[in-house]
Amino acid sequence: MIPVVDLRAEYVAVKAEIDGAVQRVLESGWYILGKEVAAFESEFAAWCGVSGAVGVGNGTDALHIALRACGVAAGDEVITVAHTAVATAAAIALTGATPVFVDIDPATYTLDPARLAAAITPRTKAVIPVHIYGHPADLGGILPIARAAGLRVIEDCAQAHGAEWQGKRVGGFADLACFSFYPTKNLGALGDGGAVVGNDPALLERVRLLREYGWPPHNRYVSQIEGMNSRLDEMQAAILRVKLAHLDGWNEHRRTLAGVYAAHLPDSVVKPVERPDCRHVYHLYVVRSPERDNLREKLRAAGVATGIHYPVPIHQQAAYYHLSLTSLPVTEQAAGEILSLPMHSTLTVEQIEWVCSVMQD
Ligand SMILES: Cc1ncc(COP(=O)(O)O)c(C=O)c1O
Repeated sequence: MIPVVDLRAEYVAVKAEIDGAVQRVLESGWYILGKEVAAFESEFAAWCGVSGAVGVGNGTDALHIALRACGVAAGDEVITVAHTAVATAAAIALTGATPVFVDIDPATYTLDPARLAAAITPRTKAVIPVHIYGHPADLGGILPIARAAGLRVIEDCAQAHGAEWQGKRVGGFADLACFSFYPTKNLGALGDGGAVVGNDPALLERVRLLREYGWPPHNRYVSQIEGMNSRLDEMQAAILRVKLAHLDGWNEHRRTLAGVYAAHLPDSVVKPVERPDCRHVYHLYVVRSPERDNLREKLRAAGVATGIHYPVPIHQQAAYYHLSLTSLPVTEQAAGEILSLPMHSTLTVEQIEWVCSVMQD
């Protein structure tokens, strides 16, 4: 069976380094917010090309905390897409604000800037472009509209570690940016983890306070603002430090595999695009076809696992019916046609060629 991702294989590829890092933490006697988290935060910030990073419990918390740091609260609206992990909308709802969905660009599956202005109301406080699948959202279209309307912008980089726009990595273009280190991500922990990154010291300071009950570093146990508990632990930080050193190579390998797909897939499926000025890091390799379900069954029968990210757009999920009745035709059509083919740092060129040959038959 060729899996969509192989988490164990990625661990085995760097086993000695990870085992050493875990042992180091076990022996240290310090397990939450210590040297490993501090070191990871500065190494990850440098890797992203931003001035600071704050490690938190997961990507959903990263978005929730970033929104709160930007002042988003009950009664506000936050614009994003319905074609994303439900986490993006869940994080908005956790602040008490209302998610407002706009449709996507059919080629990149990211927020369509042409739909943005019409969705802005006097209650709109922020926009979350999602760099879905590892391709940057159209920041050149989105940022000027958001800025002109006085909105905060928070990048959802959960699927886009190392993706680039105009030669710079995503994570530094907006007010704040949020990463997930869920195990399947391009940079994945061996448990939960997340980070908020950015270049604005005041916002990053607020994120740091919100992460741990609003406690300032010099006055633990006394809350300066109402915060929460969402700490990255030392074990995950030590593991992430190991994996971060391999991430450039792993992302390059994903791009090589994407090149193999592009060369060998049949013309009957629509392949992912890479816009000029963008670098795609192929967190997921998503093709589309009106024959998606048949294709999926054919691959399954040949021993090739696939996924659908995501089968039901958020505005069509029962938990979010109350939000809006807006129809999002591009999003809805995509959900019925998309198929995630195997893509992971440990898959081989031969495996991808085999997947393509099954699809050619
Ligand atoms: C686009 C997107 N945003 C947010 C998240 C939330 O991350 P986490 O699962 O770490 O909470 C994820 C991952 O699931 C994601 O893919």
